[in-house]
Amino acid sequence: MEKTCLVIKPDGIGKKVAGKIIDRLETDGLKLIAMKMFRPARPLVENFYSIHKDRDFFVPLVEFILTGPLIVSVWEGENAVRRVRKIIGSTHSKSAEPGTLRKLYGTDGTRNLVHAADSVENAVREIEFFFSMSELINYDEHDWELAVPSELYRKQK
Ligand code: CMP
Repeated sequence: MEKTCLVIKPDGIGKKVAGKIIDRLETDGLKLIAMKMFRPARPLVENFYSIHKDRDFFVPLVEFILTGPLIVSVWEGENAVRRVRKIIGSTHSKSAEPGTLRKLYGTDGTRNLVHAADSVENAVREIEFFFSMSELINYDEHDWELAVPSELYRKQK
């Protein structure tokens, strides 16, 4: 099954919309298989965005990411990469498509709320960048329905 990587940037956490971001992906039917929150160190951020190191927005981008914590996550589903990119919208928050996360909650081109992998190859690279394979959780979304605590079960009867 296709996997993708979503990063909630410091503005998403600061604006207290992390839940709304996660909700949109869950509502779309995507399956959350890994998530962690941490405050990144400069070398990690520079390494993650190294593809942009010669662009004029590289320094402001790195400085912005260093202003707060990140929530990195892995999502699974058919065409997960394309679906998540559609939900978040294009890079610049102001010109992002109506209803997309960046349009709703982003600020501008740098402070654009979230990052998501733009190809299956980059999704693999980004997932490996942030997670070890043992951190990707293998589970069935319906397994919780199987177990009912016996006390509760007696009350329900
Ligand atoms: P992201 O999806 O994290 O991938 C690269 C980031 O670089 C992008 O979101 C923006 O935050 C930033 N970025 C890309 N293009 C520009 C731009 N033209 N001006 C400012 N920031 C940009």
